[in-house]
Amino acid sequence: MRFCVTALIGAVAACGNTGSKSNAGSAGSAGQVAGGTAGNSGTATAMAGATSLGGDGGVNAGSSSSSGTSNDGGAGIATSGGTGGTDNSDPSPRTRRSLADSWRFKKGDPTGATGLGYSTAKPWVLPTGNAFLKDSANYAKRPSGNLGDGVSYITANFDDSAWQSVNLPHDYAIEGPFTNSISASMGRLPATGVAWYRKTISVPASDAGKSSFLDIDGAMSYSMVWVNGQFVGGWPYGYASYRLNLTPYLKTGDNVLSIRLDNPVPASANWDDGSSRWYPGAGIYRNVWLVVTDPVHVGQWGTHVTTPEVSSTSATVKLDVSVDNDSEQSAIVSVATDLFELDATGARTGSSVATIPAMELTIAAHTTGTLATSGTIASPKLWGSPPQQKPNRYAALTRVNRDGKLVDSYETRFGVRTLKFDSNQGFFLNGEHIKLNGVCNHHDLGALGTAVSDRALERQFQILAEMGTNAIRTSHNPPAPELLELADRFGFLIMDEAFDVWNTGKAKLDHHVFFPEWHEQDLRAFIRRDRNHPSVVMWSIGNEIVEQNDSTKGPALAKELTDISHQEDATRPTVSGMNSAKPDNPFSGPIDSIGLNYQGTKVRTNPPQYPTYHTAFPNKFIVGTETASTFSSRGIYSFPVVAGAGTPATSSAGIIDNQISSYDLYFADWSYAPDLEFQSQEKWAYVGGEFVWTGFDYLGEPTPLDSVARSSYFGIIDLAGFKKDRFYLYQARWRPEFAMAHILPHWTWPDRVGQVTPVHVYTSGDEAELFLNGTSLGRKKKAQYEYRLRWDDVKYASGELSVIAYKDGKQWATDKVSTAGAASKLTLTADRATIQADGKDLSFVTLTVEDQAGLLVPNATNTVHFDISGPGVIVATDNGDPTDRTVFPAKDRAAFSGKALAVVRTLSGQKGMITVTATTAGLTAGSVAVVAQ
Ligand code: GAL
Repeated sequence: MRFCVTALIGAVAACGNTGSKSNAGSAGSAGQVAGGTAGNSGTATAMAGATSLGGDGGVNAGSSSSSGTSNDGGAGIATSGGTGGTDNSDPSPRTRRSLADSWRFKKGDPTGATGLGYSTAKPWVLPTGNAFLKDSANYAKRPSGNLGDGVSYITANFDDSAWQSVNLPHDYAIEGPFTNSISASMGRLPATGVAWYRKTISVPASDAGKSSFLDIDGAMSYSMVWVNGQFVGGWPYGYASYRLNLTPYLKTGDNVLSIRLDNPVPASANWDDGSSRWYPGAGIYRNVWLVVTDPVHVGQWGTHVTTPEVSSTSATVKLDVSVDNDSEQSAIVSVATDLFELDATGARTGSSVATIPAMELTIAAHTTGTLATSGTIASPKLWGSPPQQKPNRYAALTRVNRDGKLVDSYETRFGVRTLKFDSNQGFFLNGEHIKLNGVCNHHDLGALGTAVSDRALERQFQILAEMGTNAIRTSHNPPAPELLELADRFGFLIMDEAFDVWNTGKAKLDHHVFFPEWHEQDLRAFIRRDRNHPSVVMWSIGNEIVEQNDSTKGPALAKELTDISHQEDATRPTVSGMNSAKPDNPFSGPIDSIGLNYQGTKVRTNPPQYPTYHTAFPNKFIVGTETASTFSSRGIYSFPVVAGAGTPATSSAGIIDNQISSYDLYFADWSYAPDLEFQSQEKWAYVGGEFVWTGFDYLGEPTPLDSVARSSYFGIIDLAGFKKDRFYLYQARWRPEFAMAHILPHWTWPDRVGQVTPVHVYTSGDEAELFLNGTSLGRKKKAQYEYRLRWDDVKYASGELSVIAYKDGKQWATDKVSTAGAASKLTLTADRATIQADGKDLSFVTLTVEDQAGLLVPNATNTVHFDISGPGVIVATDNGDPTDRTVFPAKDRAAFSGKALAVVRTLSGQKGMITVTATTAGLTAGSVAVVAQ
């Protein structure tokens, strides 16, 4: 069926395929607690007929002593206190322990290890995904015996003391070195091959009889896990989060976990021989958790919250819960839930705002029982996207009691909001029209590689928010859970993307190799993991899928994946970024909305596709899933500057010394300048918005300079996190109420005196006057569909170039650039003065090479030595130069366009003053202090 994209007013769950779910009970009607339908063998009985509102107390009020609460979705934070209602403390019997510390790591298999490659090990690995197959007839059966017998690295008594000590998250390839034997597309970093991780985990006697799970948020790739030499399971997709039940394998005392990863080794360094079109990262690059529960517990991602009815006076919160009974006896449990507000940090505050009374459920041994419950929040505080709206959140704290004893409590964070995807008017959040001002981002964090870091992600989000970004597409794979938690917190709208390929690959060893037998498990697991996040607004089932032009296989798979999405979550539409399919092609038919990559305007001879799709699919929401693909290197400009709307970058247009000019007029030959997308979005206002390729530069895919570079030129922000000029072009458009003006290029051109040096101004104003050394070069007004002001015939003279921007005839903003003198000193600036001494927090320290007056020297390339004292380490340096092959951990880094970056990490538990210094011959050294507390 077709997703009802236009009629979703005030209700996220009102439309879409509401086809049967594999594990959910039937919906409770509003204002009533409904008896859930049986899960495998569970039966439910309603214990209370009506939903009680907040403030009247509730069942199972926890004691006032607060304890850490955790669930499968993110690090739990509990606060004590609260008056009236049920307090928000949580004496949960469930524990969720980070397994970040004290791993041993080694690359390569031991001699004699055979049969561990995925093609042979597949029958062993497949059963891990059974829980995500709808039809149990398709369940894979585990072969008899044990996988890996005889391989020394899996045995408990193997001596790994000579292996490298590492902590997770860990990207083993980011330290380099860069090599030509790996494709530029994959970042020329040594991410390929087999790697092993081992860790001893100690199980206390008090865990006997409990259930224990290993939750791996992401490991690249084909991961396989053993405990004490026994094979447990694995998952091939490196971006998938998955759980293994360790209960049968653990014993009291020490247990050894061995994990083997395998990034397939390409036959050559040609991009299409590889396993990825970008730097995939390597290692256990996300978090890993040990979850210990009572045998009767809320299952993995075992809650599903939707808000089918929302008004200013009330919101219906529908909560489906699945409870696993891993014990040998049938269990009668009661399940009750309290709803709390969350503060900005994600901590529960105050007392419950609503209570879903207890319901009883009988669950046979080794089965899952499901309940459908619902409650009502009065005067709900909606989750929304700033600046118009606020990202308010709630948590559902679900308590499971057996025989009067609390056996589990489980927190589900959620938001109350309505989505409307209107084919004629675009996207509405809580009834308010919001244009999706989005960016696509890859998962790497620049010099830190793919190892997930809360602070590095938060920094990215802060920079994007400053630009006016309100949406992110997680191109082209499931993101780290931390990204979604941050998006919920910031109010970013997420196009959550599952796949870059389906059955037909783009590169020989990419995901298509196992897509046929894993796509259902991958997609269901992905959606179950992410569907409670209010930030997630669309499910992208694929990017530029090769099958988009196949008239039978493409639509069939699109239908299958859309059906799965609807079964797992009926509240969000599916989308797929299409770069070549046209409206008469059957591919779009089964997909809920239309996603177009680089088809918003005329490219080569192809006419713009927004209007043709709108005509062909008048009821489907349209969005620019990928736009612009403009190149630039921060601070680099080439001359002459192309006239008009720009041109594909070539050696004679835009490319200079392996860098690409920052006039923002040079792009991939399948694309066009940002301005043309703005124009199309404005002309065809029914288009929901755009996702620019890309927000940040990323490792790999250094098109069009693959032979020399190792990271991309596409970013609006460079790999080091420094803003390129383009940042201000988007800010001018996306934050029209923010008074700003930005001049480019820099104004230090000793060799260009008297030569034409075009000046462009990005401003949120509508008019501007440019001055060179106080003389007006004219006042210009933006014409319709014009997004930058250009003075294309300015002749360079040193001095000061300044601009006064106007809006509605009134002065609005100013900017100036001045000619810098010779480099004289190094200046360091830290992004935050105080950071946490937790061994994870980061300080991003920016180096600028300045003249005596403190002006940035825009062409400075001095090699700088970074040093550190106090309780911190420099984990990486960078400069945003896509061609720099100095390894990221190096303490010596050349400045690029006058800037460089040092990333400092604290040491766990060590407080004090960290001092970073920068030195280089002939210039005054710089230093900056950061407090670790
Ligand atoms: C698109 C593709 C992206 C990236 C981009 C570069 O076609 O979907 O992954 O390769 O091109 O312009």
